[in-house]
Amino acid sequence: MTGVLLRPLLPGELADARPSDGGFDDFGPRPGYASPPPCSLDEPGAMAVLAGGRLAGSVSWIWQRWGPNHGSRCPMIGIWLAPEHRGHGYGTQAQSQLVDLLFRHTPANRVEAHTDVDNRPERRALEKAGFTAEGVVRGAQWRDGDWRDGVLYSVLRAERGA
Ligand SMILES: CC(C)(COP(=O)(O)OP(=O)(O)OC[C@H]1O[C@@H](n2cnc3c(N)ncnc32)[C@H](O)[C@@H]1OP(=O)(O)O)[C@@H](O)C(=O)NCCC(=O)NCCS
Repeated sequence: MTGVLLRPLLPGELADARPSDGGFDDFGPRPGYASPPPCSLDEPGAMAVLAGGRLAGSVSWIWQRWGPNHGSRCPMIGIWLAPEHRGHGYGTQAQSQLVDLLFRHTPANRVEAHTDVDNRPERRALEKAGFTAEGVVRGAQWRDGDWRDGVLYSVLRAERGA
């Protein structure tokens, strides 16, 4: 199987990429990085996904908070692959690698992901990457002109042996 590698996004990379997946990842134009990307995993960020040495897309993360104390935070990850790079297992590998990266280099106890209830490829890719579905989050995400239901997924540090 072709190997996947994550590395920092270079200036301008993927700035012109547009979602063409029927709307599951369509939050409007991608800004790219107008300023230098953050240097810390502790901030929201993104990395390039290379597959067989070619730029295939990106993974990203934001930080969610589950209580008043600063420590009760966990990254929520996202992914977009260009259409020609889908269906080869890259999404599974890239998200699995990002989970390992976040557990290795941050104190997070949990990594989350959230995707539309109808996004079967992403749901399957998350399950193959070791995530467990926790339930439906109703009407949480505004996308493509309406409020959408999604499934919340997580993987815990102990489950990863990290
Ligand atoms: C979602 C995405 C990241 C998945 O990455 P990928 O490399 O295509 O996924 P993988 O090849 O690792 O795995 C996809 C799995 O879904 C399955 N799948 C694909 N289409 C499917 C469908 N319509 N119904 C059910 N399963 C489907 C594949 O068969 C595969 O499972 P398998 O290995 O058991 O056969 C990628 O397709 C993508 O970038 N899509 C557009 C952006 C997006 O939706 N991002 C997530 C937003 S939350």
